[in-house]
Amino acid sequence: MSERLEDIAARMMTAGKGLLAADESTATIKKRFDTIGLESTETSRRDYRQMLLTADEAMRESISGVILYEETLFQAASDGRTLAEIIVAAGAVPGIKVDTGAKPMALFPGETVTEGLDGLAARLAKYYAAGARFAKWRAALAVSDTLPSFGAIKANAHALARYAALCQQAGIVPIVEPEVLMDGEPGNHTIERSEAVTEETLRITFEELADQRVSLEGMILKPSMVIDGRKARRASVQEVAERTLRVLKRTVPAAVPGIAFLSGGQSTEEATAHLSAMNAMGPLPWALTFSYGRALQTEALEAWGGRPENIAAGKRAFSHRARMCSLAARGKWTKELEKAA
Ligand code: G3H
Repeated sequence: MSERLEDIAARMMTAGKGLLAADESTATIKKRFDTIGLESTETSRRDYRQMLLTADEAMRESISGVILYEETLFQAASDGRTLAEIIVAAGAVPGIKVDTGAKPMALFPGETVTEGLDGLAARLAKYYAAGARFAKWRAALAVSDTLPSFGAIKANAHALARYAALCQQAGIVPIVEPEVLMDGEPGNHTIERSEAVTEETLRITFEELADQRVSLEGMILKPSMVIDGRKARRASVQEVAERTLRVLKRTVPAAVPGIAFLSGGQSTEEATAHLSAMNAMGPLPWALTFSYGRALQTEALEAWGGRPENIAAGKRAFSHRARMCSLAARGKWTKELEKAA
């Protein structure tokens, strides 16, 4: 019998652990590799992901699940095991990004709608057979004085809900990710604007989830934090934490077992500090943790630099950041601990 969605979600939200988002599409990982001057090939992508997933300390102590891109789910490590098997051996849950990207939305200039619903039921069956027990779908909402429009929020929320229903039917826990972009264009919005947009987005998303009969107990929410735009960063850690929690408490039912934030372009330390501040303000109705891509990987990528002789250094950098995020998931991270390391 397949494992219950609630039980998979509980494993993903193990106290003090969080998710590693290593699901960069081929185009996105190329951009990341460009920063270290490394060519993106099937082998270099495999080597990089293998380095992260075999960082034993990080994986065992801080990571409860890993989001993979389709190529990685079916890729074999140098020892012949699949990367999904390596994740399971470390005690974590393998997951898979299933959307096919945010595409320009017809008649909505400057806005996108995320695609990938056609044929999704068949793909989910294939991913389940390969070991995936959760999935991710990301909607991206750009913020300006007038955007996002109601139409774009609604279309994206509807797609998220359709995706979530298909996942649950396939025995896969959906991560529902409506990202309010901090680093989109023009990128100069205030934290007040971020709060208003995030609240409306989450409200509409949960309405659509209810309309599509999605079980709240069998899903995880992956939101952005309430934060001012990339070119207008001014808000303190305390303000980001307070406003984010206020919006989440207003919009996310307590039946949702967990919330795992994206980092969205925040620095590694900012993303860690914000999560810790929120957990320190508990008790909260849901578990609150990380599902970071860049904020977990940037230091490891730099330390590795694409060189085989730096694999140990890359693993150390990843383990350090994962430990800091794990402390943040318990509300116990401090700047001093960061420095001491
Ligand atoms: O969809 C977004 C990723 O899974 C998280 O990436 O933490 O770099 O924003 P990020």
